[in-house]
Amino acid sequence: MMLAGKTAIVTGGSSGIGEAIVRLFASQGANVVIASRNTLEASRVTDHLQANGHNVIAVRTDVSKEDNVREVIEETVRNFGRIDILVNNAAAIMPKYLEDFEEEEWDRIFNVNLKSVFLMIKHSIAELKKTRGTIVNMSSLNGLIGQKMNPVYAATKGGMNAMTKALALDYAPFGVRVNCICPAGVTTPLLEQWILQQDNPAQTVQDLNDMHALGRPSTSEEVAQAALFLASEMSGFVTGVALPVDGGASLGY
Ligand SMILES: NC(=O)c1ccc[n+]([C@@H]2O[C@H](COP(=O)([O-])OP(=O)(O)OC[C@H]3O[C@@H](n4cnc5c(N)ncnc54)[C@H](O)[C@@H]3O)[C@@H](O)[C@H]2O)c1
Repeated sequence: MMLAGKTAIVTGGSSGIGEAIVRLFASQGANVVIASRNTLEASRVTDHLQANGHNVIAVRTDVSKEDNVREVIEETVRNFGRIDILVNNAAAIMPKYLEDFEEEEWDRIFNVNLKSVFLMIKHSIAELKKTRGTIVNMSSLNGLIGQKMNPVYAATKGGMNAMTKALALDYAPFGVRVNCICPAGVTTPLLEQWILQQDNPAQTVQDLNDMHALGRPSTSEEVAQAALFLASEMSGFVTGVALPVDGGASLGY
């Protein structure tokens, strides 16, 4: 049990990569709080895990809203008495050219993907300092190397990478480690949605396979393993890292 006695909050933990992280962390002994807007999906995950004896709850949260964020942090401490791990995983995607964005759309993507990280850390850092905890931000390879027709989402992830490094410096004196993960393609609802928004979805699937040196996108579970590494003592001397989990996609194959 790598996370016995620990308490983790996972934003967007009711689907895709977040759900895989919730399931893996619970299986490693953690108490887990799912911060999710989608209560129906969240209860699908909590019901199953609770039935198997895990301490997992869901708190309805829009991570872009400060009062919601304050509430999920308070609820976590009320239920479990501590916060050891924060995984900022929730995000939204809107693939199109920059000139096609309305101001409100820019704000929405930035609020969900990046302002949320500011809010979640602002309101949990006092608890994380008490436990010398860890923060894992779910970024993207496109925050490191860019991506066609996805400039605003990429900007949020590039901002996340930079903020991760800056915060790693600020919180190191308190023993709080801050890292992020940069996946390439991961087979999840978010990726399926992006594929369907492309001109030729079948070709996109082929291109996706080809862009990874390992010949396929990753699974959510493979990304969750990286999150477990960064959240646990296995990475006790790792901070400020933007870790590609990309099957070699960044090698420019
Ligand atoms: N799937 C990929 O190929 C891929 C690649 C690189 C990075 N990522 C990143 O991985 C993370 C998880 O994405 P996923 O692929 O599992 O997609 P997903 O759509 O399954 O997960 C995103 C989650 O965020 C939640 N969410 C969105 N807006 C929210 C809000 N305002 N408040 C609370 N929750 C909100 C959604 O309900 C959903 O549960 C994201 O940060 C994404 O950018 C995904």
